[in-house]
Amino acid sequence: MTDIDYKKRQFLQYATLSTLAATMPGFVLAENRKINKTPNNSFKADVEIALTAQAADAPILPGALTHVYKYTGKLLKGPQTTLKELPGYLGPILNFEQGQNVRIYFYNQLSEPCITHWHGMHVPHLMDGHPMYAIYRGERYVYEFEVKNPAGTNWYHPHTHELTAPQVYQGLAGLITITDEAERKLDLPSGEYDIPLVIQDRSFSSGNQLRYILGMHQRIRGFLGDIILVNGQKDNTISVKTRTYRLRILNGSNSRIYKLGWSDGTVVTAIGTDGGLLEKPITLPYVMLAPAERIELWIDFSGRKLGSDLTLQSLTYQESTSHMIAGMRSGMRHDRGGMGMMGSASGQDEVISIANFRITEQISDSPKLPDELVPIRRLTAHDITNPDKTVPIAIGMRHMAFQLNGRTFDMHGYSELEKIPLNTIQKIRIFHENRSRRGGMRGGGGGGGGGGGGGGGGGMGMMMSLPHPIHLHGQQFQILSRTQNHQDSGYDTIKDGFINTGWKDTVLVMPGEEIEIIKPFNDYNGLFLYHCHNLEHEDMGMMRNFFIS
Ligand code: C2O
Ligand code: CU
Ligand code: CU
Repeated sequence: MTDIDYKKRQFLQYATLSTLAATMPGFVLAENRKINKTPNNSFKADVEIALTAQAADAPILPGALTHVYKYTGKLLKGPQTTLKELPGYLGPILNFEQGQNVRIYFYNQLSEPCITHWHGMHVPHLMDGHPMYAIYRGERYVYEFEVKNPAGTNWYHPHTHELTAPQVYQGLAGLITITDEAERKLDLPSGEYDIPLVIQDRSFSSGNQLRYILGMHQRIRGFLGDIILVNGQKDNTISVKTRTYRLRILNGSNSRIYKLGWSDGTVVTAIGTDGGLLEKPITLPYVMLAPAERIELWIDFSGRKLGSDLTLQSLTYQESTSHMIAGMRSGMRHDRGGMGMMGSASGQDEVISIANFRITEQISDSPKLPDELVPIRRLTAHDITNPDKTVPIAIGMRHMAFQLNGRTFDMHGYSELEKIPLNTIQKIRIFHENRSRRGGMRGGGGGGGGGGGGGGGGGMGMMMSLPHPIHLHGQQFQILSRTQNHQDSGYDTIKDGFINTGWKDTVLVMPGEEIEIIKPFNDYNGLFLYHCHNLEHEDMGMMRNFFIS
């Protein structure tokens, strides 16, 4: 054990857990894993990258460096612009073009298993980073895939069995951008005018080390840090010129949900969602961004005064009217408040500054916002292959664990209703399972019942009323409908922040909400994950496989 490893163990209780997991039977079992160790010579790669997950020290706060995990990249073949390093702990931005054949050699130099997933990308099962393919320290996994996605912003992160949350938390994540013909024609702001913003919340010890300590309640709610980092840095001020910019925003947090808006009330103009550009720009007062979701914003700084500031903020909102939830998710001061926070306003009760834009240069050329962006084929009920059959994703909980369709994660397993015929378009209904057998388990968002005085019953109520960002691997989907089944004044504080017209791979399901989506399952067969992207929930087993065949 190196000295750094040892220190990390002291600060990061998770390290101990990781070690445990690595020695658990489940992991040893992986002896018959079919990991893809060697490149396929008939795959003609346009781009080749070596990507390594390793321990590192990063400057995040003033003073001592922070022990992190970090992806480091090396371009072996392809355009020089393919890799873009960011200062801090995030991995390099991978800039791809639609149609490219990409080969990535992934090396694990951590003292725990790891595997990498290309979130949002439509790739074969073997290239998707399923946890069954985790590799140990010193091993490599070879990914080969064609970039089929259209222009947009995706990302990569570990997908290691029961270790995704701590591995992402410790720094393993990076952006992927894709360009294509249609996007290039639009002449959107590029280069220095195209700014990535990866938003993550973290907690630090007085020695500047990451803290990730989960009590039972934090596990259930998901981790909330008290410091917001953007691109791995605190207190972000970005110098801008008086013109228009494109902002690519990823919520890379484990569980925190942001309600993004501009400090002076300027409307939010969105040009892209998870799966790429929208048909046309959309304006809204604020936009909700749950873990793993991406939003691309257009912002015009022209006409603003030199030296003035415009801040991207996370505004206040309530997740539910329940007092129980209130305490459990109010987050920003959990260290001081602990359980004493219960009963305060729910969701987010103070405005958080995310990134501050300072006008530092006056220029005159400022591209106009195009009226039309890219054509999107709107999928409708007519496109569904089997209209009498809806694939369910039921969110529920049993034995203090979240479940999907009544079960927790099973590495190779899937049920009858999780079988999807290849090359079909399916309607999927995501909803809160409503089970009223026992008091306190009455579902979906009522949560109310007065909170039950903090005992088991209250806990249940709370768990049933949490928001869940549900993510499906494979192709992007579209949202058909969103229905709120509960009278909930909290919902009014977030409901105008959803975009339902673009391609999505993650959808925030609020307490009481039911969402219908439509999703193609083309090209690739095998097991593809669907799960909650609250990473603590995912690691607790709120994940399942679809078997596409
Ligand atoms: Cu972003 Cu299955 O993951
Ligand atoms: Cu994914
Ligand atoms: Cu969840």
